[in-house]
Amino acid sequence: MNIINLYENYNSYFDAGFKAIFELCSKIALKNGYQLYLIGGLVRDLLLNQNSLDIDITVEGDAIKFARILESEAKVKILSVHKNFGTIKVEINGKKIDFASTRSETYPKKGHLPHVDRIGCNLKEDIFRRDFTVNALAMSLNQGSFADLIDYADGLDDLKNKKIRVLHAKSFVDDPTRIIRALKYSSRLGFEIEENTLKLQETYLKNVNYDMCNKRIKNELKKTLNEYSQEIFEKFINQKIYRLISQKEFKIPQIGIENLIAKYKPKHPWLVYLGLIAIFESDVLSDKLELTKNEKDIILNAKRLYNSNLNEDFEIYKNFMAQKLETLLILAISGQEKQVLHYLEDLAKVKLSINGKDLLELGFQPSKLFGEGLDFVLKEKLKNPHMKKSQELEIIKDYLNPIA
Ligand code: CTP
Repeated sequence: MNIINLYENYNSYFDAGFKAIFELCSKIALKNGYQLYLIGGLVRDLLLNQNSLDIDITVEGDAIKFARILESEAKVKILSVHKNFGTIKVEINGKKIDFASTRSETYPKKGHLPHVDRIGCNLKEDIFRRDFTVNALAMSLNQGSFADLIDYADGLDDLKNKKIRVLHAKSFVDDPTRIIRALKYSSRLGFEIEENTLKLQETYLKNVNYDMCNKRIKNELKKTLNEYSQEIFEKFINQKIYRLISQKEFKIPQIGIENLIAKYKPKHPWLVYLGLIAIFESDVLSDKLELTKNEKDIILNAKRLYNSNLNEDFEIYKNFMAQKLETLLILAISGQEKQVLHYLEDLAKVKLSINGKDLLELGFQPSKLFGEGLDFVLKEKLKNPHMKKSQELEIIKDYLNPIA
């Protein structure tokens, strides 16, 4: 096998700070008999020269022990330790690095977190527990083989041919979140899902095991739908990936969702997409996905307003004013485009200049009629948005005077 050395990629990809850290780790590893590798998404991104989100180093052996040695020999701050998975997060020279022990895993409970069989297995076993060949590349940080590419699963070929390929036929059965991950990578990297992988995906989606860890599904959905938009969502629907969360058939709404999201910039785009499915499928809203109260409310409010037939400006205003943008966008996409856009573009700008305090200053006694009166003024102001405060006061005085 030809050895491919990635020193040039390494040299141009990392800044001097990271290089100094890797070289320091490499020295300490040599002295203490450890082998270190960059691994997973980082090596994929290094080869594609794309920004990577995390810096992951795999220690062939026990990463926690290695990090403790590092701590005793250099200025290292331990940030967090996960004993069960043999992982440890540290900060060196202001940079955060995740160290992971090589580990072999099995999935005794399909669709749930894997069981760690062995911490400190050999690198090859660690590589073959992973999701896709392009995420199963490693780069040596060891003296004598520094920057050599380790490619047990032919990931480099798939990277060159732009393919997302699972490492074994049971990959999606073990971990269905990988179906969403494949979608994420295919869109982010512009890769195709390889033919057999797509078949395995289709087979799984025809017979989903709903006894899975939905929190993991939620987390992947959140990352994926937040990062991307229409294209991902269309694939999510067309490839029937939504079956992971809903057994009902779903059609893509005929409206440019991505444009709406780009224009109004909701904080949580993924909830807009999820909401489009969830308002028709109460299962999604059950505790299954472990949505937070806020997340649930966003969708439940859309569900509640979905059948409301709002026509009058005042009705639209009163029903929409307290809603989160995500709720309004779900409604716009699922049939109330005219009302929502009218609200966002025109009505939402209308604000009363007067409030209860003004009424007290005018000498009115506090009463439940205050609310009615203010609503009356609001109705008028929606017809005439340029109304001045003095006009508002006149209107409310007339309204309240007979009974004041
Ligand atoms: N992994 C896996 N199966 C999963 C999740 C993760 O095999 N369900 C493996 C993959 O090898 C992946 C690595 O763990 O590369 C790290 O996971 P994560 O940080 O989610 O992946 P990245 O590829 O780094 O993704 P991103 O670029 O979005 O951070």
